[in-house]
Amino acid sequence: MAEAAVSSNGGMTRREFLYYIWGASMALFTAEMTGLILWFAIPRFREGEFGGTFTIPGDTLPSKNAEPVDFPEGRFWLVNLDTTIDEGTERMYQAGDEEEPIVGAAAIYKVCTHLGCIYDWNVANQRFECPCHGSKYRLDGRRVESPAPRSLDRFQLAALSADNEVLAVSEPDPNGTYAALPLPEGTAAIQVDTGARLEGPSLTLICDLRNNCP
Ligand code: FES
Repeated sequence: MAEAAVSSNGGMTRREFLYYIWGASMALFTAEMTGLILWFAIPRFREGEFGGTFTIPGDTLPSKNAEPVDFPEGRFWLVNLDTTIDEGTERMYQAGDEEEPIVGAAAIYKVCTHLGCIYDWNVANQRFECPCHGSKYRLDGRRVESPAPRSLDRFQLAALSADNEVLAVSEPDPNGTYAALPLPEGTAAIQVDTGARLEGPSLTLICDLRNNCP
């Protein structure tokens, strides 16, 4: 005779037992999948927390080629670059191997690309300088002197309207880091995403281009 629906002693049949096991497995699987979806859907970092986004009023942006503005909570410097004007050329200039002008805002990660020290802006020399082993960087983060193996990293940056509409977002440039973002008309705020970072490129040292490396 086929398998009995009810055991002769009134306990659970083999079929019922397998059914309950299958049901429990499905419930566990569903719970795991729900947990995974929530894990990816819920932002892990809050606004204003390193790893998340920082929204800054548009007028916080320094004037073109002016000294960088420090955002310690976000671990970045905000710069406003324009190699087409004469103002601030001691800080920002077009190097010999740069064919296109560099124009726009950028958010530069505050960690040196050599061994991870926190570098600072040197007012006397008008460039970023690392106190650990002497790497130097131009206002936009490009290497001036080594031992840093590459230029400084950048975070993705977006221009927002007064209604929080995204007007423009920085995209990777041909060198692989985020390009400076020219801010469109109507930009009321700048949003920096410290969860989106691209490494700086290993371009020729500027001191090599000028034949004055130490
Ligand atoms: S960590 Fe900055 S130069 Fe070494």
